[in-house]
Amino acid sequence: MLDVRPIGIEDYAERCSKPLSALHDKLWVETYSKMHSHKMMVGALEGQFLKMLAAMTGARRILEIGMYTGYSTLAWAEALPKDGRVVTCDINPETAEIAKRYFAESAHGHKIEIKIGPALESLKNVWGPFDICFIDADKENYGAYYEQCIELARPRGLIILDNMLLGGKVLDPADPRTVAVDALNKRIRNDPRVENVLLPMRDGIMLVRKLS
Ligand SMILES: C[S@@+](CC[C@H](N)C(=O)[O-])C[C@H]1O[C@@H](n2cnc3c(N)ncnc32)[C@H](O)[C@@H]1O
Repeated sequence: MLDVRPIGIEDYAERCSKPLSALHDKLWVETYSKMHSHKMMVGALEGQFLKMLAAMTGARRILEIGMYTGYSTLAWAEALPKDGRVVTCDINPETAEIAKRYFAESAHGHKIEIKIGPALESLKNVWGPFDICFIDADKENYGAYYEQCIELARPRGLIILDNMLLGGKVLDPADPRTVAVDALNKRIRNDPRVENVLLPMRDGIMLVRKLS
């Protein structure tokens, strides 16, 4: 991944931000040691950013597409009120088993509902409105997830899409995955139903606010 920031700047930003819970540290260590794909976790800096977004907007219902081992899911759950809900979708039962153990250990685990299977199928049985929809799964389906989230988000609700810079590859889209993400970035920019900003934080976080 192309990193245009000076070396160490993300670590510095992380050290100057409030840490996530001790349970997050434990989950990070287990995921890092067991999974080759451990870089899929949003990590401490983005996790804290997402958690603050939920707290600042007073979110009560969150939809997540792409749970993995549950790192971002736990961050959402910790920000929600006692009767809040995170509905999270993932296709991988193996990583979901890890997530479930950590949710069981968390005081916020009761807020989490897991849907296993292809997200486009799971979403047929999900009902809005959601205050926040977070898209962090297979890039080829991001466009379809975006349309589903436009339907499921409440008016003035947030849709957040992760990895919208794809390590800088969007500057010169060559493979189908990058072409799809680049096209979606431009589609969102021109979508009259929303306002948006693409933040060059980590791998690019697209913040979208549904207008009505
Ligand atoms: C980048 S990871 C999510 C990381 C997670 N948000 C975190 O912070 O730990 C992407 C996840 O999307 C899931 N995924 C891929 N294709 C999917 C599909 N068609 N439906 C549902 N989940 C899918 C993968 O199994 C993987 O766990």
